[in-house]
Amino acid sequence: MSVRNSTGVSIRSASKRYGDTVALDSITLDVKPGEFVSLLGPSGSGKTTLLGILGGFVTPSSGSVWSGERDITFMPPHKRDIGIVFQSYALFPHMTVAENVAFPLRARRLPKSTWAEKVAGALAMVALTGYEDRNIAALSGGQRQRVALARAMVFEPRLILMDEPLSALDKQLRESMQIELRQLHKKLGATIIYVTHDQREALTMSDRVAVLRNGRMVQIGTPSQLYDHPADSFVASFIGESTLLPVLRAGPAEVRLGNLTLRSARELPPGEKLLLALQTEKLLIDDGRGSTAGGALNRINCRVTEVVYQGESLRVFAVLDDGTAISLRQPAHHAARLQIPEVGQSMIAVLAPEDTIIVPASD
Ligand SMILES: Nc1ncnc2c1ncn2[C@@H]1O[C@H](COP(=O)(O)OP(=O)(O)OP(=O)(O)O)[C@@H](O)[C@H]1O
Ligand SMILES: [Mg+2]
Repeated sequence: MSVRNSTGVSIRSASKRYGDTVALDSITLDVKPGEFVSLLGPSGSGKTTLLGILGGFVTPSSGSVWSGERDITFMPPHKRDIGIVFQSYALFPHMTVAENVAFPLRARRLPKSTWAEKVAGALAMVALTGYEDRNIAALSGGQRQRVALARAMVFEPRLILMDEPLSALDKQLRESMQIELRQLHKKLGATIIYVTHDQREALTMSDRVAVLRNGRMVQIGTPSQLYDHPADSFVASFIGESTLLPVLRAGPAEVRLGNLTLRSARELPPGEKLLLALQTEKLLIDDGRGSTAGGALNRINCRVTEVVYQGESLRVFAVLDDGTAISLRQPAHHAARLQIPEVGQSMIAVLAPEDTIIVPASD
């Protein structure tokens, strides 16, 4: 099973208002054929609304939707060549696995003689061969999720929309499904637009991630662009794990925060109000290493206030001399743990000049 010719999809200056609520505010997005794009944002930011406009369930108040050169803004969903996976799976509980997966073929009036082969192909894709006659009720959450995926793919749509498809699964299953979905995407070559409010999931799966906030698209980029160059403090706080500290003064190679001055090898963004995004994993406990290409490491005096064990790593909370709270992450292996001072003791955290990420404050 493969997708013959996947299609891109574009949305131009699309807005959606419900009375006084602006659910989406002039969104423009071009998704390339075969691309995996995630829509990431907090609850109420407009992710489902945007997906609905792409799928044809929601009519935009203004703006347009394009499939290649074709304006599909007002085309009903069943005429769009789109597979959809909803958050709730929306499987038919009274049908078997095979009947569920065959449903889109029936709805599209494809010849019945082709169903068995297509269903078998889709089930093989999600590793559910042999489950054809099972009832939906007799499946685990992860298996149901796979049936929903098979049903979305069975008619070989050129575009697949997914709205938080893994949110009902436990962490372990979710993480293995993330990898499976990525592999499926590569195999299928379909264009996928994927809604999530889990930044890690978005970074794991996507070619590009669009960050939404209050109906606006704040930034779109590859996972590493978002992580290394967040557009503003909202993106910086949403992606990864950062402490945001107000910048008092920033010069070409220096930032001043309170009574701390850091060397910076980063370009300064425009804006009046700037913040330093201190990512927990970029701060390290001083082990005597001197410098990087960007210059000598910044040494930050602080005092440990708490150490929290979090499995694969430990989070160390500390305060600067002026009381500003910061935190850093230390791997959980023995040698790294030995470096962590006791609570109440002083510590020197180091930060490379390349890692001084400075962002404009988002209102
Ligand atoms: N049918 C509707 N009528 C009125 N307001 C709506 C409707 N659908 C969505 N909204 C509003 O539009 C905004 C965006 O909603 P949307 O469902 O797109 O958010 P979301 O990002 O998917 O959130 P979540 O993560 O909670 O699913 C919200 O303020 C929501 O209350
Ligand atoms: Mg939603």
